[in-house]
Amino acid sequence: MANRPTVTRTVAKLRSTLAPFRARHQPIALVPTMGALHRGHLALVKEAQRRAKRVVVSIFVNPTQFAPHEDFGSYPRRFAADIKALTEAGVDVVWAPPAEAMYPEGFATRLAPEGAALAGLEDKFRPHFFGGVATVVAKLFTQVSPDFAIFGQKDYQQLRVVTQMAKDLDLPVKVIGLPTVREPDGLALSSRNVYLSELERNHAPVLYRTLKTCAARVKAGEPMEMVLEEGRLDIARAEFALDYLEARHALTLAPIASVKDGPIRLLVAAKIGTTRLIDNLGV
Ligand code: PAJ
Repeated sequence: MANRPTVTRTVAKLRSTLAPFRARHQPIALVPTMGALHRGHLALVKEAQRRAKRVVVSIFVNPTQFAPHEDFGSYPRRFAADIKALTEAGVDVVWAPPAEAMYPEGFATRLAPEGAALAGLEDKFRPHFFGGVATVVAKLFTQVSPDFAIFGQKDYQQLRVVTQMAKDLDLPVKVIGLPTVREPDGLALSSRNVYLSELERNHAPVLYRTLKTCAARVKAGEPMEMVLEEGRLDIARAEFALDYLEARHALTLAPIASVKDGPIRLLVAAKIGTTRLIDNLGV
């Protein structure tokens, strides 16, 4: 049985826990999470272990990336189960700061990412989101000083924003994005899937099915706007309220007119009942 990870709750304890690893020149990989861990998160942990001798997983439900009407209060919190899963995975350190350690009284700085963060996708529906994400991830990077940071492509726009932020701030960390882990029927694993009723859960795989169909048709040279419009209808027919289904340049997330200007990423966000789901796929 693997050892329980060292759980740290102050920056000072985190740094003193990591100091001996650094003294021995052991590479460190960080996996930032908001907890309620599932197989998707654990795939990131596996990759972290493949890349680095020491692995830190952060668990912090970051208040600054939620708008007042969003689900900060009800976001699933499963600390004991998360620690059990991370013990079984053999993680070295869990960084689980209370909100006061991350944002002490008087905290007054917030990053304002541009570029991919203003692509008109998630930012259009959650305008506060990437400022909150960029700020907390920059803090996580300076607190842990990891050699590698592992993110999921599931949150594709987030991955682009964080990659650019680390580059722009000259943070010496290699940001790595891993493919989305899915249920057998294609639904992307998400901590928010627990909100779905049985009926909604049955409809949910339409997002991935539509992405796959659209990707194949765009690749085959069919007119992009027509393909996307039919995709939007398929999603609406499955009881979803669509926020967007778009084709974008995979790196800049700028609008893109044809396959030859690629690589292309298809991105979708839609609400079923009260649950908002996102997904994406490369063409
Ligand atoms: P959270 O939603 O907990 O996700 C943590 C990491 O797990 C992210 O990099 C996300 O893309 C990845 N992930 C989620 N579902 C996945 C899946 N099905 N397959 C592969 N990876 C998956 O994203 C956040 O937390 C926060 O915004 C955070 C970056 C921690 C900043 O607060």
